[in-house]
Amino acid sequence: MDLESILGYLQNKTILVTGATGFLGMVFVEKILRVQPDVKRLYLMLRASDTKSATDRMHDQIIGKELFRFLKDKWGTDFDSFIAEKVVAVPGDVTFDELGVKELKLREEMYTGIEIILNSAGTTKFDERYDIALSVNIFGVQHVLSFAKKCLKPEMLLHVSTG
Ligand SMILES: NC(=O)c1ccc[n+]([C@@H]2O[C@H](COP(=O)([O-])OP(=O)(O)OC[C@H]3O[C@@H](n4cnc5c(N)ncnc54)[C@H](OP(=O)(O)O)[C@@H]3O)[C@@H](O)[C@H]2O)c1
Repeated sequence: MDLESILGYLQNKTILVTGATGFLGMVFVEKILRVQPDVKRLYLMLRASDTKSATDRMHDQIIGKELFRFLKDKWGTDFDSFIAEKVVAVPGDVTFDELGVKELKLREEMYTGIEIILNSAGTTKFDERYDIALSVNIFGVQHVLSFAKKCLKPEMLLHVSTG
């Protein structure tokens, strides 16, 4: 696939990203917003107690990072409205059924809209406690797969893992 066809494919797409605070997820988010600003929506799943905490984490630990400097400079005073239009912070956790998305309306909206899922949530501690590693890196993947199966128009599930 050449770059033009990838950009064409991403136009107007709705994408769920888990692990967006992580090394890989954050680079993915920045790149999508930079190369295809006509993406429809990015749902960023973050571990947080509620939507406000997830949104705060998103601004502190993702959008506020130096990595987003180019986009900030490009959009200038429109940067905040661009982010508000395209990016939604979702409180969730892959160790739970339905990825821990408790709000029914939001969950239905996600099932209806999401076409692409990037699962980059994972524990990358090689000496992690066994039960924690199992719940995130094994059962978490099962939960993401179940979530993807409930999406009405799934096109791509991209899972990254070391193992
Ligand atoms: N980095 C590489 O070069 C590389 C190469 C090959 C494969 N991989 C694999 O790619 C994946 C991502 O790597 P990375 O380097 O981006 O890792 P990372 O920087 O450690 O980020 C891990 C991400 O997973 C999230 N997460 C952890 N537990 C979660 C849970 N229960 N529910 C939802 N999110 C959770 C973390 O969120 P919090 O902020 O809440 O902790 C964080 O955003 C891993 O599986 C890794 O093994 C990475």
